[in-house]
Amino acid sequence: MKTVLSGIQPSGLLTIGNYIGAMKNFVALQEDYNSYFMVVDLHAITVAQEPAALREASESVAALYLAAGLDPVKANIFLQSHVPQHAELGWIMTTLAAMGELERMTQFKDKSEGKDSVGAGLFVYPALMAADILLYNADLVPVGDDQKQHLELTRDLAGRFNHRFGDYFTVPEPFIPKVGARIMSLDDGTKKMSKSNPNVGSFIALLDPPDVIRKKLSRATTDSGREVMYDPQNKPEISNLMSIYSQFSGLSLDEITAKYEGQMYGGFKKELAEVVVAGLEPLQQRYRDIRESGEVHQVLRQGAENAQAVAEKTLIAVKERMGFLPAQ
Ligand code: TYM
Repeated sequence: MKTVLSGIQPSGLLTIGNYIGAMKNFVALQEDYNSYFMVVDLHAITVAQEPAALREASESVAALYLAAGLDPVKANIFLQSHVPQHAELGWIMTTLAAMGELERMTQFKDKSEGKDSVGAGLFVYPALMAADILLYNADLVPVGDDQKQHLELTRDLAGRFNHRFGDYFTVPEPFIPKVGARIMSLDDGTKKMSKSNPNVGSFIALLDPPDVIRKKLSRATTDSGREVMYDPQNKPEISNLMSIYSQFSGLSLDEITAKYEGQMYGGFKKELAEVVVAGLEPLQQRYRDIRESGEVHQVLRQGAENAQAVAEKTLIAVKERMGFLPAQ
């Protein structure tokens, strides 16, 4: 059976971008793959986190995984920091990566732009991400479009290791959805929807109450013109709303175009809000039940135990190949 792995950072509120670009696919893929889905808390601390907020967000993301439909019987669900092998292989991957490669990462450029002081962790972050994936020899990594470049670096690092120390790592493939790989901000159709955007009106959080979702969508900016038509180049904002509609309703873009032919944006946006509210309501209900039950802790304990067993085997093999003297 092939292996799938992915992770989401516990930093801020998860958005429908995280859901459509990543989490929804985790749920589908767990059926056919040996699955590892992490809450990547070691990645989150590459920017400063309040300890209490990090704790809460970590538990919340794990609960959202379950609420979205990840099944701990089918998938290993765990916190990255509960499996110390991530940090250790992360260091090894850092030594295989070149400064120039890391400097080319657009996410690093975006996150460091205009800052007086940029954490070194933010810079070496893609090496840790490579370690996350390679520890389990993952074949497939479901992510949104913004992680594509990090995946390419992971593939390069795997190849470099294999070349220097003998074939060992599986070179992973990205799994990027055709529709919804890049959900855009509601206030600007040229920017990615992001949980770290200070304007909360720019994103829909998975836990936003129905009225907040309705308000945010009614205020979402739309392109000039009036036709509900999918044309990401010329009409990025309405096209983005159509992608969201498609993901929550199961209708294709063509079906949505036909349904709203001759209608104005206003009616479309109102119905979109109802589609999103109806799509998120069951997830939100399950989330509340899961948080109340406290079952997350047991799931994370079991997930980490399973993950550690695999990760430790990889690390031993990697260190042996590299020439580390084994402890006797
Ligand atoms: P993160 O936490 O920023 O985002 C989690 C996932 O959500 C996707 N995503 C989006 N997809 C579509 N539209 C959007 N607006 C949008 N915003 C976010 C991301 O592409 C991602 O798939 N580096 C990763 C976390 C990570 C990881 C890994 C992923 C760490 N180790 C190993 C895969 C495998 C990140 O920061 O994702």
